[in-house]
Amino acid sequence: MKTRIENIAQLVAVPPGPVCGDTMRRPPIIEDAALIIEDERIAWFGVRKETPASADADVIDARGGTLTPGLIDCHTHVVYAGSRENEFEQRIAGASYIEILEAGGGIRNSVRMLRAASEDDLVAQSLPRVRHMLEYGVTTIEAKSGYGLAPEHELKTLRAIRRVASQTPVEMIGTYLAAHTIPPEFDGRADAYLDQMLDPALLKQVVDEGLAEFADVFCERGAFNLEQSRRFLTACRSAGLAPKIHSEQITWTGATAMACGLGAVSADHLECVTDEDIAALKASKTIPVVLPGCSFFLGSPVAPARKLIEAGLPVALATDVNPGSCTIESLPLIMSMAATMLRMTPLESLVACTANAAAALRRADRLGAIAIGHQADLVILETPNVNRWAYNVGVNPVAKVIKAGRVVVDRTR
Ligand code: NIG
Ligand code: FE
Repeated sequence: MKTRIENIAQLVAVPPGPVCGDTMRRPPIIEDAALIIEDERIAWFGVRKETPASADADVIDARGGTLTPGLIDCHTHVVYAGSRENEFEQRIAGASYIEILEAGGGIRNSVRMLRAASEDDLVAQSLPRVRHMLEYGVTTIEAKSGYGLAPEHELKTLRAIRRVASQTPVEMIGTYLAAHTIPPEFDGRADAYLDQMLDPALLKQVVDEGLAEFADVFCERGAFNLEQSRRFLTACRSAGLAPKIHSEQITWTGATAMACGLGAVSADHLECVTDEDIAALKASKTIPVVLPGCSFFLGSPVAPARKLIEAGLPVALATDVNPGSCTIESLPLIMSMAATMLRMTPLESLVACTANAAAALRRADRLGAIAIGHQADLVILETPNVNRWAYNVGVNPVAKVIKAGRVVVDRTR
């Protein structure tokens, strides 16, 4: 099957990740372009006048819009139950996120609601969120467990993630975030809790059923300390789950450098990173993931994204969509925040939400780029240039979303 996309005013040819430095600042842009898809993959792209003959192809008219890779949301907690607007109000009144967490609320409130929900209910509650994300141009989503915090409820969450994926065109990748916080029944006994969640039979089941590819830990006051985080990730890595980490979000813990030492795929948040942490990231292959939506939602400091980029690091961006620290489902809105709060240009943000996000999910060889042989996951915008995407804050200019060569969203009708 062949498809030709024509009438493209601007094609942003984001190269395969990880992308940093000058290429991150200025990925190649082709004006007046065309692209040919063959069997789910990108077969050709370039200036329209040089399009090879493809008479038998289906034609998609981009109507003078912009073509980019499909967006990749590489850090989410999108599968959850219930909501926490009561805490939103508490924070408006002056309580901090960490105070609410340490007082037994926060993540633990979501744990109560998730444990009470059936797998069907969890799927039903999460599916609309994933559909919204797709409408905004997101074609791949990482989704973490972490609100179950008991073997049966963590497995339930990971199975729900798989079921949500099967009911949408979005590719979803599960992450075992059993070390999100300590559940109430293990109060003061974090190590005993970790023993339970690191049971080799449980980890084997997660890996064998293909429920998760990554393991993640929240290294923070009120959650797990550095040693516990190292222990959790090391055991998960031995079982076949690649490490990720929530590091230096609210307080500095040293988790970033520790994770780099373990060969973590990504270190996420980074609001409190130091120059030494940046040096550790530089010396590793760990992808730094920044989440400005959290800073916006919590009214807390931002990660030094500019500094990370100037250090030559392949920064990725994600929503972190979750019920406690950021309910934002729109990755393009995060690109706008990256502009106003982190001083990232729209092009840098696009690279961060495509090639570098693919690298943060170990999929850079197949996803996140407009390159020959890459999977044809693409977004057609109705805007004549890509900069308008982040600039038109909160407006959705997506005309079509293409997943593996197939149009899965058409907003032009
Ligand atoms: O990435 N920081 C830890 N986990 C989430 C928040 C989870 C929650 O509050 O429900 C985050 O910000
Ligand atoms: Fe998170």
